[in-house]
Amino acid sequence: MKILLDKEALHDGVAQMAQQIEVAFEGRQLTIVGILTGSVVLMADLIRKIDQPMRVGVIQASSYRGATTQRRELVINSELLIDISGRDVLLVDDIFDTGHTLKSVIEKMQEYGPSSIRSAVLLKKEGRQEVACEPDFTAFRIPDEFVVGYGLDYEDMYRNLPYLAALESHDLKKHAQLATENQLPF
Ligand code: IMP
Ligand code: MG
Repeated sequence: MKILLDKEALHDGVAQMAQQIEVAFEGRQLTIVGILTGSVVLMADLIRKIDQPMRVGVIQASSYRGATTQRRELVINSELLIDISGRDVLLVDDIFDTGHTLKSVIEKMQEYGPSSIRSAVLLKKEGRQEVACEPDFTAFRIPDEFVVGYGLDYEDMYRNLPYLAALESHDLKKHAQLATENQLPF
């Protein structure tokens, strides 16, 4: 794996974004909603760096490929969502790639009548956007590589790595081999 952002870089980037969020929401009641599962590590760090009262909630978005099609289908589960009606909401996700996830989750959340919705992401992948919406806060811009760690997964693994790393082709081969042997990598 090639490390793109180490622990210190992640800490500094998240602290800087927390400060921008504090300034933007100064004097307002903030409701932060993390998109499960990729945002859990970022959420844990970010909310402790924002020094103001807030509500915290979650919503789940998962995308999977159909058995017979290459198209990714996005499923949004808002069963766990706290009441956001009349609230100023900050939606938090791990990565803004094509942008479809964030756009769809924002559309879904509009149904619950928030007074405003803004968004913050740890990462934005350069040159991948397919939608008009843009996150309001972005900690890091990264090249178009598949990354894991700090909440981001490959087949639900590697979320616990304290750094952000790009998976290279030999990592994918090793992962596939260990998966078939039913052994946990690393
Ligand atoms: P989008 O809908 O294309 O913007 O993709 C957003 C979702 O895809 C994220 O919330 C991640 O779960 C996943 N994703 C996109 N790129 C990566 C990556 O490089 N590593 C891990 N997950 C990714
Ligand atoms: Mg994911």
